[in-house]
Amino acid sequence: MDSKTIHPVARAAGKIQVQGDKSISHRSIILGALSETPCSVDNFLVAEDTLCTLEAFRQMGIPIERNGTQVHLHGRGLEGLKAPAKPIWCGNSGTSTRLLMGVLTGQPFQVRLEGDESLSRRPMDRVIEPLSKMGAFFLDGMDAHLPAGRQAHLPLTMRGSHTVHPILWKSPVASAQVKSAILLAGLYASGETEVQEPALSRDHTERMFAACGVKLERSGSHVRLFGTAAIHAKYFYVPGDLSSAAFFLAAGLLISEQGVEVEHVGINPTRTGFLDIVQAMGGQITRQKPTEKSGEPVATLVARKSSLKATQVAGDLIPRAIDEFPILAVLATQAAGQTVISDAQELRVKESDRIAKVAQELSKMGARITEKSDGLVIEGPTPLKGAVVDSHGDHRLAMSLAIAALVTEGPTTIQNTECVNTSFPEFWTLLDKICDD
Ligand code: S3P
Repeated sequence: MDSKTIHPVARAAGKIQVQGDKSISHRSIILGALSETPCSVDNFLVAEDTLCTLEAFRQMGIPIERNGTQVHLHGRGLEGLKAPAKPIWCGNSGTSTRLLMGVLTGQPFQVRLEGDESLSRRPMDRVIEPLSKMGAFFLDGMDAHLPAGRQAHLPLTMRGSHTVHPILWKSPVASAQVKSAILLAGLYASGETEVQEPALSRDHTERMFAACGVKLERSGSHVRLFGTAAIHAKYFYVPGDLSSAAFFLAAGLLISEQGVEVEHVGINPTRTGFLDIVQAMGGQITRQKPTEKSGEPVATLVARKSSLKATQVAGDLIPRAIDEFPILAVLATQAAGQTVISDAQELRVKESDRIAKVAQELSKMGARITEKSDGLVIEGPTPLKGAVVDSHGDHRLAMSLAIAALVTEGPTTIQNTECVNTSFPEFWTLLDKICDD
C-alpha cells in the first residue's frame, strides 16, 4: 500500500501541462480500432484506465503501436474484431467496461469482462438493460432480460450478435458511458438508434463520431444515430484533461498570487461545470489562447488566489462537473458560507461512494461537511489540520486530499495513493513542480 505525506506550502506557481483527456483517449482507441483507415493519436493518456482499453483491442486482434503518448492503430473496420483468447481486464475503469460492452453488442462472440474490487461493485444494469434490448446476451446466470431490481456487476460474460436492433432509449441517468455504449452498439444496428438523457452528459462520442463520418443528429440532450455506419478515423489530438487540470487550478485558487497556468486543456462545454461553479464562487480562472483541435475546444487556463464564497450546485450543472466534486468540496471548505451540492446521487456509484468518502476524509482534516442522500453540505471557511486520511482506492479523492493538504496546519498522510495511476500518473511530479517554482 503506497502512501504520500504532503506538507503545507505558503505559495504555488508555474506553468504546466496535464496529461491527455481520459474520455477522449478511450474513445480514440475504440474508434481507431473500428476504423476502415489507419489512425494516429497524439497526446494519448498513458494511464492504467486507458491502457486497459488499448489492451482490450489488442486482445481482439487489432495491431496497435504505442510510442509514449503517440499511438498508431491499424483498424479493421466494424466487423474486424476477433474473439479474445482470455478474459478482458478492465481494471478500475468504468469507461472501458461500459463502452466495450457497447462495441461487443455487435460482435458474434463471447467475452468475459473482469475488473478490480471497486469496478466490480459498480452498477452495470444501466448498460445491460438497453444493450440486451439491442440483442446482446448476458450470461453468468443472467438472462437477456434482468429480473427487475437485480443489480448486475462485473465479472460478467456477454455475447453479441451480427443482428443489432435499433432502440429509442430514455436513460434515467445523465451518463456519457451509458449514452456512448448505446451509440457504439447503434453503429451496428440496421436503423435509427436514439438516446434521450435527462440532462446533457459529455458529448465526446458524438463529436468524434461526426469527425469519423458517422451520421447523427443532435438536439439538446437527445441524439439520433443512423446505422449501419462505417468509421473513417485518421487522426485524433487529445487535449489536456480538464478533470486533471482542476486539481492544479484549485491549488492556484487557494494559494497562488502569481497564478498556476495549465496549457492546452480541453474546455468542451459539457465538461466545464467546474469552471462555472468556481466563477460563481468568486474564483478567478482566466481562459487564454482559445483554439480548436480535432473538434474539441482547447485553451490555457490560469488560476489565481481568490477569496471564495459559498454556492449552490444542482440540476444540469451536475453532469457537467461530475468528476470534479471531490476537489470542489475542498474549495468549499475554504469558501465563506454554506455550499450545498444537490441532485448528485450519481457520486455514490463512482470509483468510491464519493458523497460518503469525501465527507468522511475531509472531516478528519477538520472540515465541516455533512452528507445528504444526493450531495453534500459544506460550511466555510474552515481552517484544515493535517491528518492521516485514506483515498479508499479512488484516484480523484486521493488527488483532492493532496490539494487540501497544501493548506492544512501540519502534514497530511494520504494512504492508498497507487490509485492515482489509473488516470494521472504524472500528478505527483506536477504537484512538486508548482510547489517548488
Ligand atoms: C465518462 C463519463 C462519466 C465520468 C467518467 C468518464 C466517459 O461517467 O464520470 O469519469 O468517459 O464517458 P458516467 O457516464 O457514469 O457519468
